[in-house]
Amino acid sequence: MKTIGIGLVGLGVVGKSVVSILKESQEKIHASCGALVEIKCAVVREVQKYQGFDFLITDCFEDLLEDPSIDIVIELVGGVEYPFEIAKKVFAKKKAFITANKAMLAHHFDELAKLSQGLGFGFEASVCGGLPVIELLRDSLVANDFSYLRGILNGTSNYILTQMLENKQSFDSSIAKAQELGYAEADPSLDINGLDAGHKLLILARLAYGVKIELKDIAISGIEGIELEDLCFAKERGYQVKLLGIAENDENGLDLRVHLAWIKENYNLAQVNGVKNALSLSGNYVGEVFVSGVGAGGLATASSVVADLINLVRQSPIYPSLGGFKQCIKRKEAPKSSYYVRFKLKDSGAFEKSLKALQKIGIDEVKREGERVCLMTKSVKESDLELALKELKQHHSLLRIPIL
Ligand code: HSE
Repeated sequence: MKTIGIGLVGLGVVGKSVVSILKESQEKIHASCGALVEIKCAVVREVQKYQGFDFLITDCFEDLLEDPSIDIVIELVGGVEYPFEIAKKVFAKKKAFITANKAMLAHHFDELAKLSQGLGFGFEASVCGGLPVIELLRDSLVANDFSYLRGILNGTSNYILTQMLENKQSFDSSIAKAQELGYAEADPSLDINGLDAGHKLLILARLAYGVKIELKDIAISGIEGIELEDLCFAKERGYQVKLLGIAENDENGLDLRVHLAWIKENYNLAQVNGVKNALSLSGNYVGEVFVSGVGAGGLATASSVVADLINLVRQSPIYPSLGGFKQCIKRKEAPKSSYYVRFKLKDSGAFEKSLKALQKIGIDEVKREGERVCLMTKSVKESDLELALKELKQHHSLLRIPIL
């Protein structure tokens, strides 16, 4: 069986999480794409800081580039021009490329799209961490025209707003905690000033509307300067304050913005808290779609990187495009539950006796209207319920099979 060789560029929070998912889920990945995936090397800046890895650690990118056993390069460093140079070299070598780098994509989307033609290119992890929003716009909903996209696109700022309001943490200590948890960018000012959300909005809008967009086309502001009293003022009036990325499209054109907004508390985006991100959109065929989940942090982001990896392997004709499968599953019994049972008797005089079988497992409530009986069982095992129903079905007065 062919092994797919991986080269990593960057071994920070996300890089280390990719390493651990590839190790922990080796069997699952093999079953999903039919190939063995093996990390061959990682390029880092300071080699001496990285001990205990079972692959080559190098500070020389050419080691990775020139290694013919490396099929896919995963770039997980920040910045714009350095990773773009890497992407160009990787595509020139006809290797596939995966990135989580939204800043690079926001600056060089069209060049990357051109360079990657005919080669594998994955960037699911660049927007909303573990949420599959790239696939949603590029593939699943591609037949639609979108009247709007509204998203909570930055986990760090959402985490800070939640910490301030719910736990009365200060702005500064919330940022420090977000950095400690691996949510924030190496330069956290990008999270705070709205630029990170702007990069992500650009990528989403580029996919949704298929037009060339530059950062200067987006009006961007962030959460700097916000105080607890601002959040409380809104809350007292039934609103949550969120940093939104917004694209509105109509016959007058496309409006792109990132800014703080008041959102009615019963609206879905208002309920997205902590490090969670969300995207709400409206497509002309599907109507409203809303997705939400963890938007930053090592493992969630690495989950999207590994998904790209599996998908790239599956695109090769020698591997199964729908993934493999395990030969058998281990079935487990459904969890205990209360069941609603309804049945009808030929003769209402048989009521008391008809209950006997279900009384053995426990009845919480019973209602009788003439020959019709409705009841709720206690919380029971499915197998016990099946036995009781079998007994009930044998009751001579039962008119119809019970409805569950
Ligand atoms: N700093 C980013 C955020 C990381 O907080 O959303 C994920 O892109």
